[in-house]
Amino acid sequence: MRLLALETSCDETSVAVVQDGCVRASVVASQIQLHAEYGGVVPELATREHLRNLLPLANAALRQAGAVAQDLEAVAATRGPGLPSALLVGLRAAQALAFSLRRPFLGVHHHQAHLYSPWITGQPPRADFARFEPNVSLIVSGGHTLLVWVQGELQHRVLGSTVDDAAGECFDKTAKLMGLPYPGGPELDRLAEGGNPAAYAFPRPMLEQDHDDFSFSGLKTAVRYFLRDHPAVLEAEATRRDLCASVQAALVEVLVGKTLRAARRLGVRCVTASGGVTCNRALRRALAVACDQAGLTLRLAPPALCTDNAAMVGILAERKLARGAPRTPWDAEVEPNWDWADV
Ligand code: KG4
Ligand code: ZN
Repeated sequence: MRLLALETSCDETSVAVVQDGCVRASVVASQIQLHAEYGGVVPELATREHLRNLLPLANAALRQAGAVAQDLEAVAATRGPGLPSALLVGLRAAQALAFSLRRPFLGVHHHQAHLYSPWITGQPPRADFARFEPNVSLIVSGGHTLLVWVQGELQHRVLGSTVDDAAGECFDKTAKLMGLPYPGGPELDRLAEGGNPAAYAFPRPMLEQDHDDFSFSGLKTAVRYFLRDHPAVLEAEATRRDLCASVQAALVEVLVGKTLRAARRLGVRCVTASGGVTCNRALRRALAVACDQAGLTLRLAPPALCTDNAAMVGILAERKLARGAPRTPWDAEVEPNWDWADV
């Protein structure tokens, strides 16, 4: 099946062409520069950019795949969760295209799409479903922090999520307190290399608690008070690096510790991870070491597919359609707060 997928849930406009489990084309227009000036995503600006970029990107993706619209056998888009007006751009465009081509349309759950990006490996990127096995999946980005039990293909149960800030938000807010540019996650990652992760002690929120939820706002507050009491730390390159490494170590320890504990408890043999924060090198290394020690297989989304992209939306949509999932009605609306239980 040849399928076009659109992703516009936040600040990346992305279009992919997927065919028989293979990503034939994948284009992403990131809006990071646009929002940097405001220190966060501005929904109106994000929506305007999606409107401006979506059709040129769709044409580029079709060209890259050597296809024309009439070749498409289905169209998919992220239906939620996400920013309402941003979602609406992709959803309506996909519905209109599918309707005019008389092809099926599928609205996809954004977090579920993230679950499948660690399986898109190889060159050209293709979904490695032949090696699929039940897993515990960590989804960490600027908007979400989730632990999911993937019991089988298309069978998921959310184990826990953040009760306040997302992990990426904590990276970004800490970086902002340090005066680093937006988005702070990658910058903090860069500075942390060469820093001492044990230089300063920060809390590991909820690490020892016997549930799968996360909380990161206390860690951000701890950094705020630390900087109030030790402002000189920001003055030297070495102590700035130590601070970055110490905060990062706290975040990584919580994310890895809770993921591994859930995997052990549920008896799965595989751990997967995706979302923008999965680009973080310390997190990738720590997950690799922990899984190796525990005898678990680790599958990390390739960095290009960690952040939001339409390839993962297309791979999931094609799989769902192949398994007989019901098509999304033509009058379906966006679902900014879509609950997994209803999917
Ligand atoms: O998945 P994503 O592109 O967008 C959503 O939020 O849905 O994730 C963006 C988040 C930002 O918070 C960014 O700071 C964080 O991922 N991030 C990182 C790194 N690269 C991106 N955080 C830590 N280390 C990185 N290398
Ligand atoms: Zn995402």
